[in-house]
Amino acid sequence: MPRPHSTTNPDLALVIGATGKTGRRVAQRLRQRGVPTRAVSRSSAISFDWDDHDTWEAAVRGASVAYVTYSPDLAVPAAPPAIARFAELAERRGIERLVLLSGRGEEEAQRCERIVLDANPRSTVVRCSWFAQNFSESFFQEPLRSGLLALPAGDVAEPFVDADDIADVAVAALTETGHEGEIYEITGPRLLTFPDAVQEIAIAAGRDLRFERIPMQAFAEAMQLQGEAEDLIALVRYLFETVLDGRNAYVADGVQRALGRQPRDFSDYARTAAAAGAWAPDGQIAGGAVAAERRGSTAAAAEEATP
Ligand SMILES: NC(=O)c1ccc[n+]([C@@H]2O[C@H](COP(=O)([O-])OP(=O)(O)OC[C@H]3O[C@@H](n4cnc5c(N)ncnc54)[C@H](OP(=O)(O)O)[C@@H]3O)[C@@H](O)[C@H]2O)c1
Repeated sequence: MPRPHSTTNPDLALVIGATGKTGRRVAQRLRQRGVPTRAVSRSSAISFDWDDHDTWEAAVRGASVAYVTYSPDLAVPAAPPAIARFAELAERRGIERLVLLSGRGEEEAQRCERIVLDANPRSTVVRCSWFAQNFSESFFQEPLRSGLLALPAGDVAEPFVDADDIADVAVAALTETGHEGEIYEITGPRLLTFPDAVQEIAIAAGRDLRFERIPMQAFAEAMQLQGEAEDLIALVRYLFETVLDGRNAYVADGVQRALGRQPRDFSDYARTAAAAGAWAPDGQIAGGAVAAERRGSTAAAAEEATP
């Protein structure tokens, strides 16, 4: 049963990672509600770079709440000290509360959650399962467009969550009372394996899309050949071998607790993304709605980086 909430529109909301899968949705929703929003990333006019502390002060100035996404992932060793330093700065600069995007089953991410809640108990943690949008706005999109997604995963099921649900929960926590101190575990409403997910996408896209399970070592070697950095390869290895070992193969009720409604089903997500052209065959995507939307939102986030 969700707690009663009342709206408290913030004076200025800071959104970190505002061109990303969740940040751009959060910034969009805040602006639609008329909340003054400072949307930042490394590419915004007021830039914010987790690796450059000198950029943090200007981003934080005057903000009353902040949506915090850490890149590349809260699971990397650099995350806890950076989050601790940021939470301390936010406290000094009078930010009333933080909403931290986190991941399930990651020791370092859970450490970051504790750091944020200890620094500011009015904050909220949005702890998520793997995003559905990984298939349409991230690493899995290109292989799917070409017809084959090959990953070191297979039998383990995951309750993929829709980034729109994540954004709804984050915006509620930024603009309403009643979410202070909460750790919302946010998942989709049902478990799917990767082959299940690709099957649903194939039906939605009306295409013959295949999933193939490959050994982790082959996957890592392919990343090496593509010139990917060793720390990114280590992160991917950790995500597939450790986080995806079955520890997260259960659904959670964070969306219901935060919003009083059910989370969106993967098939709804797949239908909408397919209709927007997410998995149009290679060569047909250039004019696709998703590409256009993403370019537009990136530009908008950069343009509207002030206040
Ligand atoms: N994907 C999943 O399934 C999943 C599941 C659970 C949790 N998460 C968490 O989600 C977070 C990522 O959020 P997301 O998926 O919404 O974003 P995303 O789509 O991965 O995009 C990353 C955002 O962060 C910015 N960024 C990249 N490097 C940065 C840096 N050094 N300093 C400041 N900003 C930087 C990017 O913009 P610029 O390039 O312009 O800087 C972009 O706006 C990670 O912490 C991850 O652990 C992801």
